[in-house]
Amino acid sequence: MTAVSVRNLWMEYGNQIVLERIDFDVAPHSFVSLVGPSGCGKSTFLRLLLSQEHATRGEILVDGAPLAPNPEPDRGVVFQKYSVFPHLTALDNVMLGLEFERGGLSGRLHGRARRRAREEAMEYLEGVGLGDAASKYPSALSGGMQQRLAIAQALIKKPRILLLDEPFGALDPGIRSEVHDLMLRLWWETKMTVFMVTHDLREAFYLGTRVIAFDRVRKREEELERYGATIAFDTPSDPAPFVKELAAKDVAA
Ligand SMILES: Nc1ncnc2c1ncn2[C@@H]1O[C@H](COP(=O)(O)OP(=O)(O)O)[C@@H](O)[C@H]1O
Ligand SMILES: [Mg+2]
Repeated sequence: MTAVSVRNLWMEYGNQIVLERIDFDVAPHSFVSLVGPSGCGKSTFLRLLLSQEHATRGEILVDGAPLAPNPEPDRGVVFQKYSVFPHLTALDNVMLGLEFERGGLSGRLHGRARRRAREEAMEYLEGVGLGDAASKYPSALSGGMQQRLAIAQALIKKPRILLLDEPFGALDPGIRSEVHDLMLRLWWETKMTVFMVTHDLREAFYLGTRVIAFDRVRKREEELERYGATIAFDTPSDPAPFVKELAAKDVAA
C-alpha cells in the first residue's frame, strides 16, 4: 500500500503560475477525488504524478522516497478517451502493457512468455467483464466497454498508483454506475492508491475517500498569471455503501 506526500509543489509554464503551494499527504490505499474549475491544473497535477512533467518547485514523495524522474509501471493512467489502440483487439490491447514491460527492445514476446502473457491478459479482461470480447476491436465495443478495457490495460501492469483523468465523463448514467462499482472493487482488491479527476461532485464523493478541490484564490484578470491554483478545500468522504460491503466480505472470509 502506497502513501503519497506532496510538498509545497509549484508548477509554472513560463510566466504563468498554474499550481502553487500544493501541500498534502495521502494515506496508503486512499481514493482521492480531485475537483476544480476547468483550467485550474488538475491534469497538470496528474502529469506531475506520472513524471511526464516536473514541478518547478517542491516535490512528490512516494512512501517517503522522491518520485522516480521518469514514467514507470508503478504508476498507471486512464483518460476519458483514446487510452486504447484502435488497431488492436481487446486482448492485444491488454497484452501490450506486458509486452513493453517484458519484451525488451522489440516490445514482443514469443513462445512460452507470449502464452503466459495471453493468459494473464485474459484474466484481466475477465476481471473487467470483457472475457467474451477478447477478439473484438475497440470500435466494436460500447463506450463503457472501452473504458473497462482501458482499466484492464492499466491494471495489468500492477500500478501502485492509478491516475484517472475524467475517466467516466463520457459514459451514460446507467453504465457509469456499473463502471463505478467495478472501479471500487478493483481499487479495493489491488489496494492501490487512486487519484481521480472529475467534474462531477457526486461522483467525487461517491468514489473518493477524500475530495480535494483546486482553485485560484485570486481571480482578477490581471492576477491570473501571477497566482496559481491551490487547495481550496480538502475533506474526507465516507466510503460508498458498496465499499462497506466489500470490507464486510473481507472480514467474513
Ligand atoms: N504544456 C503546457 N504549456 C503551457 N501551458 C500549459 C501546458 N499544459 C497546461 N497548461 C496550462 O495550465 C493550465 C492548467 O491546465 P490543465 O492542467 O489542463 O487544467 P485542468 O485539467 O484542471 O482543466 C491551463 O491554463 C493550461 O493552459
Ligand atoms: Mg484536465
